[in-house]
Amino acid sequence: MFLRSVTLLKDKITDEETYPFSIPAIRGLDTLDFVNGVTFFVGENGSGKSTLLEAIAYQCGFHTAGGGKNNYYNVDSSQAALGEYIRLSWLPKITQGFFLRAESFYHFATYLDRLAKDDPSFNYRGYGGRSLHEQSHGESFLSLFLNRFGGKGIYLLDEPEAALSPARQLAFLRLIHQLVNGGNAQFIIATHSPILLGYPDAKIFSFDSDGIESVRYEDTEHYQITKGFLNRTEKFLADLFRDEEN
Ligand SMILES: Nc1ncnc2c1ncn2[C@@H]1O[C@H](COP(=O)(O)OP(=O)(O)OP(=O)(O)O)[C@@H](O)[C@H]1O
Ligand SMILES: [Mg+2]
Repeated sequence: MFLRSVTLLKDKITDEETYPFSIPAIRGLDTLDFVNGVTFFVGENGSGKSTLLEAIAYQCGFHTAGGGKNNYYNVDSSQAALGEYIRLSWLPKITQGFFLRAESFYHFATYLDRLAKDDPSFNYRGYGGRSLHEQSHGESFLSLFLNRFGGKGIYLLDEPEAALSPARQLAFLRLIHQLVNGGNAQFIIATHSPILLGYPDAKIFSFDSDGIESVRYEDTEHYQITKGFLNRTEKFLADLFRDEEN
């Protein structure tokens, strides 16, 4: 555990009507405490998870389009709108880690290719030994996780499941478990995956129009909908499609 809390600096806010303060969960934020090695952000599309994660990445000094501390490359929309409006409390303070953003991972892979071209000794060290562009989406994600993650670090991951098959999501859970139990890693993960959310002893923060609240795994929509769907698929689908028949 390194990052203990994030606090919204309300006094700095001048306009509550526009993004990012137009988002109820962000506007209502006070202090969010991180008490576990793994924290999840869940909530509907557009509820503000990425906005907060990106702001945390900004304050960590990570590239807000994805990357770590020493990764510089240009990509559109890499400013963190909320970044200057939050304060992080650390104990102890660390600077290592990584911010994964599924949507700009392609640019990150291109940036690594450029590094490899400029410096043959780079050799994709820390990234599985070959260009991430030469690996499938899921392979490249897992390469990054397996090779780049490790040692002391804070890992901010925005929908890491986007590329991962169910079996690879389980492999990823194992990796998280190893790193967290080693005592050197903290994860904050925005996710829609009912598999990832099942990580034991994780804190789950749910974002909605009432703000951000801690929820139990079994009380998340992800768990309930998936369970209902798998337990009684035919009935679930019949209910879902019923109105269409009239
Ligand atoms: N740069 C921006 N300018 C204006 N509005 C934005 C900007 N980025 C996001 N928003 C809006 O802010 C809201 C929250 O976006 P955010 O990306 O944080 O949601 P999210 O919880 O991560 O959703 P998802 O689960 O779909 O990834 C959305 O309604 C979105 O349209
Ligand atoms: Mg998002």
